[in-house]
Amino acid sequence: MSQRVLTGITTTGTPHLGNYVGAIRPAIAASREPGVESFFFLADYHALIKCDDPDRIERSRLEIAATWLAAGLDTSRVTFYRQSDIPETTELNWLLTCVTAKGQMNRAHAYKATVDAAVAAGEEPDANVTMGLYCYPILMAADILLFNAHRVPVGRDQVQHIEMARDVAQRFNHLFGKGRELFVLPQAEIEESVATLPGLDGRKMSKSYDNTVPLFEGGPKALKDAVARIVTDSKLPGEPKDPEDAHLVTIHDAFADAATRAAFHADLRGGLGWGDAKQRVVQLIEAHVGPMRDRYADLVAHPERIEEILQEGARKARATATPLLDELRQAVGLRRMVAASKPQAAKAASAEKSAVPVFKQYREPDNLFYFKLTAADGSLLLQSQGFAEGREAGGWVKRFKTEGAAALADAPVALGEGTDRAAVEAALAALVAAQE
Ligand code: TRP
Repeated sequence: MSQRVLTGITTTGTPHLGNYVGAIRPAIAASREPGVESFFFLADYHALIKCDDPDRIERSRLEIAATWLAAGLDTSRVTFYRQSDIPETTELNWLLTCVTAKGQMNRAHAYKATVDAAVAAGEEPDANVTMGLYCYPILMAADILLFNAHRVPVGRDQVQHIEMARDVAQRFNHLFGKGRELFVLPQAEIEESVATLPGLDGRKMSKSYDNTVPLFEGGPKALKDAVARIVTDSKLPGEPKDPEDAHLVTIHDAFADAATRAAFHADLRGGLGWGDAKQRVVQLIEAHVGPMRDRYADLVAHPERIEEILQEGARKARATATPLLDELRQAVGLRRMVAASKPQAAKAASAEKSAVPVFKQYREPDNLFYFKLTAADGSLLLQSQGFAEGREAGGWVKRFKTEGAAALADAPVALGEGTDRAAVEAALAALVAAQE
């Protein structure tokens, strides 16, 4: 099975150059690797934890979505969606909340930092703590576990949360899995190779330090003005400068190929003035970012296009999330009443329930979309041909779920090896019945 990579971006701000170099660019590059199935989402439920300004939330969702798309995210390869379009997230959040120890949440850094700040300011420890903030790691675990992600690329500050997600997953598997792994245990992935981009003052580029270089905002002029404010030493033109000791150079190098880097370093050692050096940095970044900025402007001017892309993403994401959630509901005991009423019947009913086959939709390296139907024991009942469009596969699955075996008449599917048609028809009938 391919490796699932998932990450979320909290929608409270406007992306800056540091976000682009540190997160967006490497994530998009990684999503192009073969054998990787990527899930990127706008963590807008998380945004509500930090921000109670609706307009800012709305604006930020638009800007972040447009940024990822303008930066070259290929949404036919990647599942790109909004957290709040996936109601299964909040449902799983509750299932996980019920198996998470309060003591573990007491140890979460984000919560502790808020408490420490309140205490330092002479306030009640919990003065600024909402339950949203307190339980934030559980929501994050739900994001990750809902898609059974293997790898979660994050910043260092998030590693603790991924460990908590692993813990919760393990506890859930132990309590409800009956020996099965309901959840994959996710692994944090810190991109060591991606340097954290320094900001104007040399500290990590971050909105909270007010030292950012805008990515698209304000156009080329804002870029130029920001680069002009990058702090350097006071060596004059003609004096040799040490490229190893200037964060202007780190910013330059994040956009330069090896030859351009080497030339820039050599020229600085040879006395290139900081003013000229900054001009080169502006040109270099502009060459990289300018075309993306045009795409960005076009997208922001057409929010309905972004909306459509996100809706399609939500559909793809939910095709993965809903079957897992059904399984989880079963596992914790949220079952149909018939199955619980009579102990005798319960056995038969649960056997019948577990005999319900499942449709899976997926994409192969040939870039086509497929679906298949597997029996409860994992054997293959039906295998579709490849479709150019995901929605074609989805349409067929929908027809099977409503029409049952009748859809076999014209569906482009083959029976699984060793399966006879009667077994498939019975399975489809069970599936239709289970929907009702
Ligand atoms: N909390 C993360 C942050 O602030 C964003 C996030 C939400 C996330 N859910 C996630 C990241 C799931 C990775 C996986 O950066």
